[in-house]
Amino acid sequence: MSLAPFPLGRPRRLRRTPWIRDLVAETRLGPADLIWPIFVREGVDVAEPVASLPGVERLSVDRAVRAAEEAAGLGVPCLALFPYTEAADKNPEATEAWNPENLVCRATRAIKAAVPEVGILLDVALDPYNSDGHDGLVRDGLVLNDETLAALEKMALVQAEAGCDILGPSDMMDGRIGVIRRALEAKGFSDTAIMSYSAKYASCFYGPFRDAVGSAGALQGDKKTYQMDAANSDEALREVAADLAEGADMVMVKPGLPYLDVCARVKGEFGVPVFAYQVSGEYAMIEAAARNDWIDGDRAILETLLAFRRAGCDGILTYFAPRAARLLRG
Ligand code: PBG
Repeated sequence: MSLAPFPLGRPRRLRRTPWIRDLVAETRLGPADLIWPIFVREGVDVAEPVASLPGVERLSVDRAVRAAEEAAGLGVPCLALFPYTEAADKNPEATEAWNPENLVCRATRAIKAAVPEVGILLDVALDPYNSDGHDGLVRDGLVLNDETLAALEKMALVQAEAGCDILGPSDMMDGRIGVIRRALEAKGFSDTAIMSYSAKYASCFYGPFRDAVGSAGALQGDKKTYQMDAANSDEALREVAADLAEGADMVMVKPGLPYLDVCARVKGEFGVPVFAYQVSGEYAMIEAAARNDWIDGDRAILETLLAFRRAGCDGILTYFAPRAARLLRG
C-alpha cells in the first residue's frame, strides 16, 4: 500500500496516457453491469413522456418489447418493469397486483416470447395498485405488515408464473423475503431469483418515479414507518442479514449515490451480489443540469455509474442504461 518517497515515487507516472490509466484501473464498468427500469402502460404503439423524467417514456407493451430488443442489442442483460396503473384499476386491497393479466405480467410474457435471453425483474410491492399509494395495505392510517405479506405472496406467484426471472421485493415489510421464498419453493418456482430491496431508505429522490407510475397523487403522508431512516447504516446491515437468512439471492441499496457508504459496507460485510438503484430523482438531477449545460451529461452518467462499481456494487439499476451502454460501446 506504500509508495517510495518523492521523487522516487511519482503517482503521476501511472496517469500519463490513456492506455496506462486503463492498465491500472481498479474498476470496470460495462453494459453487462446494468439493469434498465422501464415504465409500461396500456395501449398500442404508445410512448408517453414523463414530465419529471425527461427522456423517459411510458411504453405500451409492444413498445416495451422493442425496448427489450434494444437492450439485447446493446448487451444490457436485464429490464425492470414498472406499471403505470389507471385509477380505475386501483383499490384499497390492491387486487390488481395479483391479477395474472395485469400490465407487468402481460409485458413479461410478451418480452419473454420475443427476446427470451433478456432478463426480467419485477417489483413486489403494492404501491402501483393501491389507492392509498402505500407499499402495504392501510387500515385506519396504519400500514399493516402481516396482512400485506399475504398479498405480496400472491403477487410474487403471478409474476413468477408470467416468466419473471428476478423478483424485487421493494416494500420493506418485515418477513417478506421468507414468505415469498417459501411460496416460490412450494409452487415449483425454485429457480426464480430474489433481489431484495434490503436497504431502501425513505427518500425524497423517488418523487419522479411516483409521477411515472401514477402513485404520487394517491400517497398520504410518507413511507417512514417502513422505509429506512437516512441516518442509519448499521441497520442496513441488519436488514441485509435478515433478507439473506430468509432466502434472498442478491441485495439492493436504494437510492444510490447518497448511499455509497452503505453499498461499500454491505459488500464488505457479506460479499454477496450487491446492486444499487440510481433512482428517478438522481436521474432527474443529472438530466436537468445537463440540459442546462451546467454539467456534461455523458460524463456525469459514466462517472456516477463507475462510482457504484468502485463502492462494491456488482450492478446498477439506471434509467440511463441504454445511453450508458451506447457510450461504453463507443
Ligand atoms: C415502489 C418503488 C419505488 C421505487 C421503486 N419501487 C418508489 C417508492 O418506494 O416510493 C423508486 C424508484 C425510483 O425512484 O426510480 N415500491
